[in-house]
Amino acid sequence: MTKIYSEFARVYHEMYQNIFDYKKEFEFYHKILKENFSTSILEIGCGSGNLAQYFLETDYDYVGLDLSQEMLNIAKEVEPKAKFIQADMRDLKFQEKFDAVIISGRSFTYLTTNEDVHNTLISIYKVLEKEGILIFDNFNAEKIISYKKKHFKQKSEYNSRKYTRISVKTPNLKDGWTENWEATYYIEEKAKKTKIFKDKSILRSFTKDELKLFLSLHNFEIVKLIDQDIIFTIIARKKIN
Ligand SMILES: C[S@@+](CC[C@H](N)C(=O)[O-])C[C@H]1O[C@@H](n2cnc3c(N)ncnc32)[C@H](O)[C@@H]1O
Repeated sequence: MTKIYSEFARVYHEMYQNIFDYKKEFEFYHKILKENFSTSILEIGCGSGNLAQYFLETDYDYVGLDLSQEMLNIAKEVEPKAKFIQADMRDLKFQEKFDAVIISGRSFTYLTTNEDVHNTLISIYKVLEKEGILIFDNFNAEKIISYKKKHFKQKSEYNSRKYTRISVKTPNLKDGWTENWEATYYIEEKAKKTKIFKDKSILRSFTKDELKLFLSLHNFEIVKLIDQDIIFTIIARKKIN
């Protein structure tokens, strides 16, 4: 588990308040869910629970799921009324079924091997109602993969704390379109800047064709594919047979 989702989960939670626009993200999902008459939702990779309040306010029957207990501890503070489950999307064991499964905030990119993707799609198929839908977003490999080293800096402010993340991405490519991501996190408080920690992870991007094939092998049909610059979102329906 990367440090940003475990011992430094609070840093993720605070930094991302200004990196993602969670209200806009909810509205995006809400429109798709309404179009598909979905009312019971499983959000996988719910992290620190930033979407939960919107789903509850809008009367969805909502469950959030994440691998990281530390992220879920924050989610429970953020939205105490929501139900959260600690589990691995590659091995979902519960019986409850949902009209829609959302894998939010690019959490699918942590499925770095073909076996991870295979196991996740099997798990999701089991927890979806008949003709239920799967919604998930991903980095588009055709737009982001490069053989060159990439450096970038992100800044985010939360209350009086200023966070900076310096990232270096290098190709990994052992399994699919993967990249090694090394990030160093700094905090500036009361005019004093301190290094907090260094983190390492592997992220996978996909081409659209790779995901089309994975989905068809797992008996899903693509309803819609939405391009959003370096990201694309897929809406796929569980086929019966
Ligand atoms: C980029 S964060 C997104 C969190 C949240 N959706 C947001 O937008 O703030 C990715 C999340 O995926 C979770 N995750 C990674 N691998 C997972 C797995 N195999 N099963 C369930 N959750 C996983 C991480 O713990 C983390 O909370």
